[in-house]
Amino acid sequence: GDQVRVWVAGCATGEEAYSVAMLLLEYAERLASPPAIQIFATDIDEAAIRTAREGSYAETIEADVSPERLRRFFTKEPGGYRIKKDVRERVLFAVHNLIKDPPFSKLDAVTCRNLLIYLNREAQGHIFELFHFVLLPNGFLFLGNSESADGAATLFATVDKKQRIFRADSATRARLRVPSLPLTIPLPRGFAPQTEGTRERQQISFSELHQKLLVQYAPPSVIINAAYDIVHLADRAGRFLQFADGEPSHNLLKVVHPELRIELRTALFQAAQTGKSFEARRVLMKRDERDFYVNMIARPVSDDATGATAHNYFLVLFDEVEGLTGAESFTQSAGEAEPVMRLLEEELQKSKEQQQACIEQFETQNEELKASNEELQAMNEELRSSTEELETGKEELQSVNEEIQTINSELKHKLDELAVANSDLQNLITSTDLATVFVDSDLNIKFYTPRAQDIFNLIPADTGRSLSDITHKLDYADLLQDVERVLDDLHKTDREVASRDGRWYIAQVTPYRTAANNIGGVILTFIDFTARKLAEGAMLEAKERLGLLVESARDHAIYAMDADGRIDYWNSGAQALFGYTESEIIGKSTALLFTPEDCERQELEREMREASERGSANDERWYVRKDGTRFYASGFLSLLRDERVKAGIVHGYAMIARDLTERKTAADESIRFQAHLLDTVEQSVIA
Ligand SMILES: C[S@@+](CC[C@H](N)C(=O)[O-])C[C@H]1O[C@@H](n2cnc3c(N)ncnc32)[C@H](O)[C@@H]1O
Repeated sequence: GDQVRVWVAGCATGEEAYSVAMLLLEYAERLASPPAIQIFATDIDEAAIRTAREGSYAETIEADVSPERLRRFFTKEPGGYRIKKDVRERVLFAVHNLIKDPPFSKLDAVTCRNLLIYLNREAQGHIFELFHFVLLPNGFLFLGNSESADGAATLFATVDKKQRIFRADSATRARLRVPSLPLTIPLPRGFAPQTEGTRERQQISFSELHQKLLVQYAPPSVIINAAYDIVHLADRAGRFLQFADGEPSHNLLKVVHPELRIELRTALFQAAQTGKSFEARRVLMKRDERDFYVNMIARPVSDDATGATAHNYFLVLFDEVEGLTGAESFTQSAGEAEPVMRLLEEELQKSKEQQQACIEQFETQNEELKASNEELQAMNEELRSSTEELETGKEELQSVNEEIQTINSELKHKLDELAVANSDLQNLITSTDLATVFVDSDLNIKFYTPRAQDIFNLIPADTGRSLSDITHKLDYADLLQDVERVLDDLHKTDREVASRDGRWYIAQVTPYRTAANNIGGVILTFIDFTARKLAEGAMLEAKERLGLLVESARDHAIYAMDADGRIDYWNSGAQALFGYTESEIIGKSTALLFTPEDCERQELEREMREASERGSANDERWYVRKDGTRFYASGFLSLLRDERVKAGIVHGYAMIARDLTERKTAADESIRFQAHLLDTVEQSVIA
């Protein structure tokens, strides 16, 4: 059909109803033109229905629901799962008492699991009758694992005993009465609206009333209530009643002999309308091949002694007359004599039967209408709760909207900041004069600075192309391997590389870290240090030349010492003069070269101090060779000039010494000779 209708009775917090919806949706997906799905899910418990409507379940459902169904039918929420809208929309939840409220109708299936176990056998029988009535012919009934429809074998055939699946027997349907709604069944303890005490009290008062009335009206009688249910029956009234198969009804119009029904209905209707006794048209009945005429009187009961409660009751009297007397006999015989009269009687009988059929049809339709009405009420309730949800949703939406607006303005502010930062960055990049290329983890060029074009043959259209496709001027065969290695081990590389046009670069390959600290590629930076490289070369050359010069000055001892006077440079001239090899003297104190007398006078410290203060110090003194012999030399101690000197830190001293022993000896000799000469002259003058 166009629609599949299922009723989940006693649905509790909705798991069963949603499971049915999921199964039906999965099945519908396999059909070319699937029917619409409508599930009615009801429970007596209002709180349970509220939870069911929410459709939110704890994470523990992972144990029962497959990951695939969780993905397809649920959305993940903090701490649980919520049923998706397309499943939720198939289920109509309503608060409904299975025993009292009118049912849903024209259903393809009813599932009522683990509810019947709480009811007694008799109540279960009524519920089965109800389910049979609302199911379409051959519709399915699903029960709980410990329940069975065995007690209603005439209504339901077993489809799967183990899974508790039953099918409504379509043949039984025609024989069944419409179950009266609400069901007038004895309710289990706790459900009963009346206490035994009140019922007993009523029975006692009806009995007293009846006794009194019997004295007044002798014929067989019954007392019925406003719904025409028999509340008391006199002894002889039973012969006017006829009970059909199935559950006995209390309703007088259902149990009264069919031939009396129409007249009785009319009489009761009139009595109810007018509030007065009404006598029904005399009816001919046949019993044991004999004819009887039955008079019926419907009398609203208004005995003062019974009090106010008696006003809603009727007394129905049956008066039976056997055979024909007087006028009736005449009428009857005249009827027999008159074929027209007989024809009319038959006609009347036929229309009575038609009327009876109409009434029954009307009753069935009435019950179905009640069921439809219930469905409408459920829909209405659902609609109301959806409206409430919508209103809440609207309010939430409004607050979300406000939040979004705030975020939006924050975002706008951030965007402005970003634009400023971006232009700062652009300016920085162009002003740094650095050649930089950003590549992603697939080695595709993302961005490059203008200077990078000096090295790589790049044009703006190359953004997005692989670095390996771009030619460059560098003598750097391992460029791509370096990039791949950095991507692999995330360690920065640093190399000095030359370009084919004679320039020198420090090539750095650094991992590119995103804000989330992920590696998004690498940054290649090329720092042009050609000028420094050339200066370094020139310096090295000058140093080499100086070294050669110093080394070649063999008649001059040149040595250097640190701020503490420890020797750290020693030329071959110094080795020749002092007798120490370089390895013997490096790291030793200069005091080693001084005579013990000069050491005692702290000549070395004084000279260093003077050089520190004036920039240099001159002296002439005796020095001691390695072999202990002494020689006389002039020395020029100069403070080593260094940037650090400006900050008051002494870097060291350099000493140039020249052997003057011969000159000194000759000078001493000449002094001595002059003194001797002077002495001789003086003595000869005196003599
Ligand atoms: C044991 S639970 C079964 C829930 C569900 N069908 C399952 O099998 O998981 C029984 C449910 O029946 C509901 N219930 C009991 N009497 C009811 C009644 N007269 N009409 C509707 N629901 C009723 C209870 O509120 C309860 O949620």
